[in-house]
Amino acid sequence: QAIAPPARRPETGDVAAARRLALACPDLTALEAALAGFEGCALRRTATRLCFADGNPMSPLVLVGEAPGAEEDRQGKPFVGPSGRLLDRMLATIGLDRSRFWITNCLFWRPPGNRTPSPQEVAVCQPFLERALELVQPKIVLFVGGTAARTLLGLEAGVTRLRGTLRSWHPDWSPAPIGTLVTFHPAYLLRNPAQKKLVWRDLLQLSQRLDAISGQGGPEGRPH
Ligand code: URA
Repeated sequence: QAIAPPARRPETGDVAAARRLALACPDLTALEAALAGFEGCALRRTATRLCFADGNPMSPLVLVGEAPGAEEDRQGKPFVGPSGRLLDRMLATIGLDRSRFWITNCLFWRPPGNRTPSPQEVAVCQPFLERALELVQPKIVLFVGGTAARTLLGLEAGVTRLRGTLRSWHPDWSPAPIGTLVTFHPAYLLRNPAQKKLVWRDLLQLSQRLDAISGQGGPEGRPH
């Protein structure tokens, strides 16, 4: 049984404006440009620059993190600081680099001092995140940290409960259910290295799932 999208509350104000703007974008370039011009998220006023995405949008795999940190804010790319370097090293153990996945965050601007984003800041970025996923059409999504999974899947448990289980998800923008996995955030692993063994299990599961997808004759990247 695939997880259906959480019922969408009526949207108003900046969130409704974000949804209209995002849905009108025909591709990722347009979506990034729309975000760059969008004034409805207060975080843009304290951030240095927009941090949208990195990697290969033709890949079957998408990773979704939480929010840009200091280094991401400087470079305008997700996961390029200490957490990102650990994430890259872990993914390399299953043969993945950024040419083999597309990576983004729930938030597109750094919260000042890395504070927890407000529900409004998350809500106003969500239409852009959902449109990005719709445009990429991943076959599997790896949620890096519990926040991303709770935001998109509407689940409530903490990451320790959520991680390690392959869940099928059928959002309204996907023609078919897609696979999802949740794993610990690398920032947490930097503080709790003993938990890396659990992430190793998650990555093996991810690798097997990707093998199964390519075994179905699914192309590495769909023609756009
Ligand atoms: N943590 C995240 O969740 N995303 C980033 O881009 C960097 C750190």
